Amino acid sequence: MLSPDARVYVAGHRGMVGSAVWRALESAGFTDLIGWSSAEVDLTDRDSAMDAVLSARPDVVVVAAAKVGGIMANATYPVEFLTDNLRIQTNLFEAAHAADVDRLLFLGSSCIYPRMAPQPIPESALLTGPLESTNDAYAIAKIAGIIGVQSYRREYGRRWISAMPTNLYGPGDTFDLETAHVLPALIRRFHEASLAGAPSVTLWGTGSPRREFLHVDDLAAACLRLLDVYDEDEHINVGVGDDVTIAELAALVADVVGYSGEVEWDAAKPDGTPRKLLDVSRISALGWEPQIGLAEGIGSTYETYRTA
Ligand SMILES: NC(=O)c1ccc[n+]([C@@H]2O[C@H](COP(=O)([O-])OP(=O)(O)OC[C@H]3O[C@@H](n4cnc5c(N)ncnc54)[C@H](OP(=O)(O)O)[C@@H]3O)[C@@H](O)[C@H]2O)c1
Repeated sequence: MLSPDARVYVAGHRGMVGSAVWRALESAGFTDLIGWSSAEVDLTDRDSAMDAVLSARPDVVVVAAAKVGGIMANATYPVEFLTDNLRIQTNLFEAAHAADVDRLLFLGSSCIYPRMAPQPIPESALLTGPLESTNDAYAIAKIAGIIGVQSYRREYGRRWISAMPTNLYGPGDTFDLETAHVLPALIRRFHEASLAGAPSVTLWGTGSPRREFLHVDDLAAACLRLLDVYDEDEHINVGVGDDVTIAELAALVADVVGYSGEVEWDAAKPDGTPRKLLDVSRISALGWEPQIGLAEGIGSTYETYRTA
């Protein structure tokens, strides 16, 4: 069980996940929180990471710093998605080890799993088949992070762990259409179509792929729970255990935003993986479950977008 007196370094504390973890820690009574922006401490630079962590000497590190993006960004900049992420996590692991950090939580992503993994995807599906090619560079970096955590556990007895969240959304998300994930991109598209009185909105693909969406505040609660009770080699999935088609998601978002025009599908554009649903039985057995329903979560996320 983590003590609220623990000094916690949240790497990436200004990002969507890091800021949610920070809020959750504050709500749980943690007062000794540390975070640096990438301008203050560039984690791709080994010396900067080492100096910062060795001088702060945290008890706990949450690795929520990463280069993150949607399909387009991943497909356009595979070199940066591979090398920046490898550097950030390797530097943080080395620095946390040098500073004798007892608990570290590494955050990966569900894209580590093979493109045609069984559904829902159990943790054991890792490295059982080829990856989705559009984000394989990012996925390989994250898989290296999982193996890194396991290696520090095996070689040095570190009580470090890895969690693999499903698609996330919520406050702090990016609504830039060049880099946004599907849910915030839909919020923006429908909002702008509604303001412009556009008769229709054309979306990529067929609308038939199925995806799972977890509110980032639910993920943050899961991170605290895992740091309290989880201490195993294997990475652990964090999801809702339920999915929707992209067409159903679009209808939900249009409803929340109040867009009443038509939705058209450009089937010439790629759909991506047909289904991606995580098997969440292991984290459910630890007594964690999400609290924020999809419609409610989209509503509050839309409010943060509208009022930003
Ligand atoms: N978003 C999702 O749907 C999703 C889903 C599953 C898993 N995850 C995982 O959650 C983690 C965080 O994702 P996110 O959505 O919160 O991303 P995000 O909003 O883009 O935030 C990324 C954070 O990383 C920091 N960062 C990036 N490069 C850095 C560098 N060179 N040095 C120091 N800090 C750096 C950024 O700091 P500055 O702001 O100071 O530049 C930012 O705070 C990632 O590991 C990701 O794989 C995300």
